[in-house]
Amino acid sequence: MGETRETIGVIGGGQMGSGIAQLAAISGFDVWLHDSDSGALQRASEGIGAALRKLVSKGKLSELAGTDALNRLRCTSDLEDFRHADVIIEAIIESEDVKKKLFSDLDKLVKPSAILASNTSSISITRLASATRRPAQVIGMHFMNPPPVMKLIEIVRGADTSEVVFSKIKALAERFGKTVICSNDYPGFIVNRILMPMINEAFHALYTGVATKEDIDTGMKLGTNHPMGPLELADFIGLDVCLSIMKVLHHGLGDSRYSPCPLLVQYVDAGRLGRKKGIGVYSYKKEPVKMLI
Ligand code: NAI
Repeated sequence: MGETRETIGVIGGGQMGSGIAQLAAISGFDVWLHDSDSGALQRASEGIGAALRKLVSKGKLSELAGTDALNRLRCTSDLEDFRHADVIIEAIIESEDVKKKLFSDLDKLVKPSAILASNTSSISITRLASATRRPAQVIGMHFMNPPPVMKLIEIVRGADTSEVVFSKIKALAERFGKTVICSNDYPGFIVNRILMPMINEAFHALYTGVATKEDIDTGMKLGTNHPMGPLELADFIGLDVCLSIMKVLHHGLGDSRYSPCPLLVQYVDAGRLGRKKGIGVYSYKKEPVKMLI
């Protein structure tokens, strides 16, 4: 990945996909961004424009670089536009069935040399690859939230991922300015295998009345030097994403200690998905709302 005219396709314009598209555009690539929801695509496009303007106004990006990045980013509702992409990074909802269907569709559509990367937090890369006829060119590229800011990318090798593809994606991650860690294909990989049980345990502490949400978060912030408390972080990640990951850990590792906390399930059932919905464990709305705990 050394040429500036290489094209990156990003699928899913939510919090992760829009950040990945922004990062790829700033890093000098031509970028196509797709979302099946036209409203989400519109919000992503406006959000990236606003983020780039903010970087320019803060002096972190020159005006020319900001305009250039924006000009190289195109939003599309048509997956056909991905046929010339060199690398496609998938960042749609955390559902194995939906991701497999997309990988199968992309496999038929994109050029034979294209690499299909998934930003999945926990789903097996080997199983996603099995939905394609190019398993050697399928790989996990797990960005952290928010992608333009966080310094890490976790690269996940599926059972059949080739070394050439691994090296290309590692070089791409480094071109994005990130540090790379490498995980084998086990549920939750490295980061979420460790992070999500901690978040789930924080929900259990809240659920069983150990302490208030504020004290749980302050305890972990000041007691263990974490920049955010686990419940605050869960709201930031999205409670639906956290629940999906816990289900993958529970199912994939077959141990009841990974069973999602009933309170986490209840928040998701209530549509309280965290910051992106204005309410999760905490409320981010101006008007008062009834809290679950
Ligand atoms: P999100 O809910 O903010 O965005 C998902 C987007 O995908 C939505 O805009 C939705 O309209 C779109 N979408 C759903 N199905 C689609 C399809 N078939 N084709 C095209 N677009 C589709 O979710 P978020 O948080 O951006 O997560 C996306 C992926 O990134 C998930 O796999 C998640 O596990 C992973 N991830 C999330 C992190 C987080 O902190 N939220 C961190 C790292 C990875």
